[in-house]
Amino acid sequence: MTAEISFKEVKKHKSKKSLWMVIHNDVYDVTKFLEEHPGGEDTLLENAGKDASQAFEDVGHSEDARELLKKYKIGTLPAADKRKDIPLNCNTLKWALLALAGAIVIGIVLKKTMT
Ligand code: HEM
Repeated sequence: MTAEISFKEVKKHKSKKSLWMVIHNDVYDVTKFLEEHPGGEDTLLENAGKDASQAFEDVGHSEDARELLKKYKIGTLPAADKRKDIPLNCNTLKWALLALAGAIVIGIVLKKTMT
């Protein structure tokens, strides 16, 4: 059983002394990892007490990094806190909409130039 830790609690741990963050609805205590992080202390400090899912994904962390996460997991968010505060990764949707908009514009331009 993993402990349930509220987002309110996570927010309190945002210093070098105690640094927690949320990645994909799980809570991590990375205090001891600060000095070891290949991406530096600052990147972790910037995400201290926050939802770091997006930041973590944006970097394109390796499988090794994901494996390492397990070591620092201390719990999960309660159902009520899940996804709240979490920037949903809607990249696919964004690109699909952009492609659709592009297609429409091209369609309009073609129609105008053909007539
Ligand atoms: C507990 C969470 C994290 C773990 C376990 C972790 C682990 C790692 C590891 C193992 C690497 C080496 C490269 C790789 O294997 O991908 C790395 C690189 C890096 N990480 Fe993290 N990381 C965490 C969170 C974050 C966060 C929240 C950020 C915020 C932006 C971040 C930014 C970076 C950057 C910028 C690099 C350097 C990439 C490079 O130089 O190519 N990391 N991290």
